[in-house]
Amino acid sequence: MDKYIIDGGRRLCGSIRAQSAKNSVLPLFAASVLTEKQVIIREVPQIADVVCMAEILREIGAEVTFQNGDVLVDSANAKSHEIPYALTRELRSSVFMLGSLLTRFHRAMIAYPGGCDIGQRPIDLHLSALRSLGVSIRERDGYIFCECDKLRGAEIALDFPSVGATENILLAAVKAEGRTVLQGAAKEPEIVDLQNFLNAMGAKVHGAGSDVIEIEGVKTLGGVTFRPLKDRIEAGTFLIAGAICGGEVEVVGVQGENLRMLLHKLRENGCKVHAKNGKIRIESTGKLKCNRRIETMPYPGFPTDLQAQQTTLNCGAQGDALIEENLFETRFKFVPELKKMGADVEVKGRTAFVRGVEKLHGATVVSGDLRGGAALVLAALGAEGESEVLDLSHIDRGYSDFEGKLVGLGAAIRRVKL
Ligand code: UD1
Repeated sequence: MDKYIIDGGRRLCGSIRAQSAKNSVLPLFAASVLTEKQVIIREVPQIADVVCMAEILREIGAEVTFQNGDVLVDSANAKSHEIPYALTRELRSSVFMLGSLLTRFHRAMIAYPGGCDIGQRPIDLHLSALRSLGVSIRERDGYIFCECDKLRGAEIALDFPSVGATENILLAAVKAEGRTVLQGAAKEPEIVDLQNFLNAMGAKVHGAGSDVIEIEGVKTLGGVTFRPLKDRIEAGTFLIAGAICGGEVEVVGVQGENLRMLLHKLRENGCKVHAKNGKIRIESTGKLKCNRRIETMPYPGFPTDLQAQQTTLNCGAQGDALIEENLFETRFKFVPELKKMGADVEVKGRTAFVRGVEKLHGATVVSGDLRGGAALVLAALGAEGESEVLDLSHIDRGYSDFEGKLVGLGAAIRRVKL
């Protein structure tokens, strides 16, 4: 497994272009088999989760071609509705295939999905919504078997605004008979992107971005060429890196309003932040103040996918911070690694108490999940001395050319292939 060697303490200066959003592209891949026509997704990031999702589509018989950064999906000959454990264990997003396989074949069989080890991640909300749409579901030996004569529109209310469940409902309802009204939907920008993609195929979906989404089932869906939205989480990671290291970092492609809570917190830290015309720019002296409190929440609240990075920032800032993780129970698993670098953090259940220290110091740490791993890289970039971040497999799931972009900003980071 590859590792990074990082020499900390360099200022970061320069501009990067955000990649397309991982959390948009993955459901779009699932949506691309809703039609037998060709689908082209533009500027797909080169990340391991995309490769895995492409394997899942190939498993059901679709042709997936990577061409100059774009991906062409032709599922005219797709036949299988079964996705084995070897593929779903790698990737939580395999669960989206339930909705699209049901629309395409009226049946689906998938192994329980895996992904980052950041908590229990049940899929009860997905399954009960599918039942409302007329699907009968059996669970046996780690597999979920779904089938229906036809999908029927329904009134659905989610007890919690789950991103994945909202997307799965869209995928299962687009061609259902009649109208589906989803109350309590998640409001993430990636859901708006999925709505735009589906509507470009000929679907009738309205309301994404608010908590009520209406889907009028249509008979057919056509091909589409689509450029996904840019990755606000990748962008946020680079902005936090700029804050920690000091310097001036600009991220191009992401709207400030999609990162409003993070930008607010970075200003609290003492950074200057400007967002205009799809560009966000941060100026930092590297001398930061702690945020008093951060609570992760569904969008538009502070994103759980930036919690680890912002916790890391607070570890090297002045003062105390309290960080509450409300989405995934084990998302502080990176903290013991951060402590090896001199961080003063105490975790009790879902809350981390941070006492800022003057500077973190270099250490050898192990990346155990995607965002926690990115946070350790940021800690190493800001620390005094040399660090090694071991096991890049998780970081590679979500960041395309992470080290290349950081080197472009002036960081001293190199990948050692093992
Ligand atoms: C998506 C994102 C992930 C992000 C998360 C929260 C993708 C591919 N992944 O994950 O990066 O961290 O949103 O913003 O878009 N829950 C249930 N039952 C369910 C479904 C969810 O209890 O059936 C709970 C989860 O355990 C969790 C919360 O709801 O506590 C949020 O999960 P959800 O919004 O579904 O996250 P994902 O779609 O898995």
